[in-house]
Amino acid sequence: ALVSMKEMLIKAKEEKYAVGQFNINNLEWTQAILQAAEEQKSPVILGVSEGAAKYMGGFISVVHMVKGLMASYGTTVPVAIHLDHGSSFDKCKEAVDAGFTSVMIDASHHPFEENIEITHKVVEYAHANGVSVEAELGTVGGDEDGVIGGIMYADPEECRKMVEATDIDCLAPALGSVHGPYQGEPNLGFAEMEAISKLADLPLVLHGGTGIPTNDIKRSISLGTAKINVNTENQIVATKAIRDILANDKEVYDPRKFLGPAREAIKATVTGKIIEFGSNQKA
Ligand code: G3H
Ligand code: ZN
Repeated sequence: ALVSMKEMLIKAKEEKYAVGQFNINNLEWTQAILQAAEEQKSPVILGVSEGAAKYMGGFISVVHMVKGLMASYGTTVPVAIHLDHGSSFDKCKEAVDAGFTSVMIDASHHPFEENIEITHKVVEYAHANGVSVEAELGTVGGDEDGVIGGIMYADPEECRKMVEATDIDCLAPALGSVHGPYQGEPNLGFAEMEAISKLADLPLVLHGGTGIPTNDIKRSISLGTAKINVNTENQIVATKAIRDILANDKEVYDPRKFLGPAREAIKATVTGKIIEFGSNQKA
């Protein structure tokens, strides 16, 4: 069923596992993720960046595609369609109006007070429509869909204030994670994560899930992380599958011959993440 993230993340935090947010780019991505989640009996979050939404034809076509697949597949597990790194109130509103069940407002590059103001406005509109809201503090490293920034850790006291002032459903405190592949091992701020968990009693979100070692994943979950975002890893395995096929077969022209195996590669990766995050058999 199509639902917001609220209930699934509260349950995940309570039972100490994390729900995966897997970003979608097209039909095959969406198929692979829905299939993996159903087979594993896992709740799942389909992450949609503004850029990916535009690529897929807009928020409305994304919602219709997801609903269409869920109807064809007879999906029973909880699924959220979530705007990833929403850039403004207007974009979040547009997503809510199109039928997204969850939005992230990423006003983390604004001054703190402005971030709170924008986030609060999004929460008011989203909650009135049964839609959950994620906010961000600090700066995730790497490329935030076009916005390239350095790493800046979230401040625990600001996290407390943000949660108190806005009534968000989950919070992504940037604590050293990076979008895209890591240069060497990630260096996550677990002390800050623990402090934030103590000050703000809500599910935490870990961005930049690609390339984080299992130990760090487990530790993050033990410290209140209930949602982990993965995008790049699926892009890497899908493109590798396509590249291998095209390199070995100069005659192939039927797109299903390489998009099908890309879909299988994504499905296998998502299945592995679901098991690693412990959300299997939780739907
Ligand atoms: O919001 C999306 C995620 O944080 C994805 O990060 O591409 O490094 O897996 P990733
Ligand atoms: Zn992110």
